[in-house]
This record gives sequence, structure tokens and C-alpha cells, in this order.
Amino acid sequence: MLTQQQLKQQAADAALDYIDPFVGPDVVIGVGTGSTADLFIDGLVRFKGRVRGAVASSERSAARLAAHGITVLDLNDVADMPVYVDGADEIDPALNMVKGGGGALTREKIVASVAKRFVCIADESKLVDRLGAFPLPVEVIPMAREALARRLAALGGQPVWRQGFVTDNGNIILDVAGLTIKDPAAFEAEVNNIPGVVTCGLFARAGADVALLATQGGIRRLD
Ligand code: 5RP
Repeated sequence: MLTQQQLKQQAADAALDYIDPFVGPDVVIGVGTGSTADLFIDGLVRFKGRVRGAVASSERSAARLAAHGITVLDLNDVADMPVYVDGADEIDPALNMVKGGGGALTREKIVASVAKRFVCIADESKLVDRLGAFPLPVEVIPMAREALARRLAALGGQPVWRQGFVTDNGNIILDVAGLTIKDPAAFEAEVNNIPGVVTCGLFARAGADVALLATQGGIRRLD
């Protein structure tokens, strides 16, 4: 029986195999944030010197890449990336995701939007029939915190301020439990449209293109 950590390693290794054909001297890889993404970053060492570098979705991932001697590029200096690789807190069979457990959702969404393909890596526990059991992270401008908590409660959720946490962008996170998310793309747009929301952790309008899910029986690929 593989542990969750071993499953995460398996997913990270599968992503390294996935990106192998894209590797080249002008290529930039988009890199996510979290414990699974960390394992992917560690494995990226094998491509060091064979790619132009990586764009990180958080200060944490940038530091880990740099510690491995992998060139970290500013997104402003990168026009395209073949792939963005990141974990998820939940993913459904249509490849909609909830992300942001690590609080990096906004930069993750930005970097992913520049990449051609979003490759989601996770252990199979992240696969759900319907999103919403994991509280939805919402990055919020601090002055809007209470106003937004009321708006999110009116949408049926129970928002909780992630106390003591400041995002890389200087904002805060509300984690919204108890939501019934029937139409992820519509709900993403609705939440993102509320003044004071930077972005919510639903990745549905642009979900994953490929999911590499580690199971006890090997990698399960969803396209
Ligand atoms: C960070 C994220 C992560 O991808 C998500 O929280 C999954 O993390 P992990 O790989 O540690 O389970 O969205 O903001």
C-alpha cells in the first residue's frame, strides 16, 4: 500500500515524463505551488541547463527552484510556455479544480493562463464527483474582508478568514465552506465579479487540460 507521499511522488514523476518531449533550450516551464508541486520542482533538476528556466506561481516555489539552481524567470519576460504543472485541492472528472489551499491561487491562475496546457498532478484522493467539500479559497483585498464575507454567506457559504496568512500579493484569504457548486464556471465568474475579490480558487473557466492522478494501481490519466 503506497502512502500519500509516495502517490504524490508518482504523480510528480509522471509530470516529469509528460514534459520531457517539450524540453528545449528556449523552453520555459510553468511551476505550481504545494507539496506535490515541490516534488515536481525537485525532479526538474534533471532538466537543468536543458531549458531556459521556469516561471513560479509563488515566492515559495521560486525559492525552491532557485535552491536547485534552476533559473527563475519573471512572467513579464516570458511570452509562452508549453506546460504549467500544479497540484489541486479537488478535481472533478471534467477537470474543473479547486485550488488555493496553499494560498497561491492568484499567481497560479495567472501563470497557468499563459501556458498552453495545464497539467494537474495529484493523488487520487483529490478526485471528487462534485467540487465544494474543500472550502473554496478566495483571495480578497483586506479592506473588503467583512463586506465580502457577507456576500459569500449570501451565496450559501460559510467564509472563514485564514488568520495570520498574507498572500504573495499582500492580500488575505477567505476559505468558504459549505458551498454547493452546481456550475463551476458560472460560479467562478460570479465570485470573481464581486468587488474586492482578487480571484477565487475555482479553476473552471480554464481548468486542467490533463490530470495525472496517482492511484494504488499506477497513474490514471484524464484528458
Ligand atoms: C496551492 C495549491 C495547491 O496546488 C493545492 O493546495 C494542492 O496542494 P498539495 O499538492 O500540497 O496537496 O493550490 O495554492
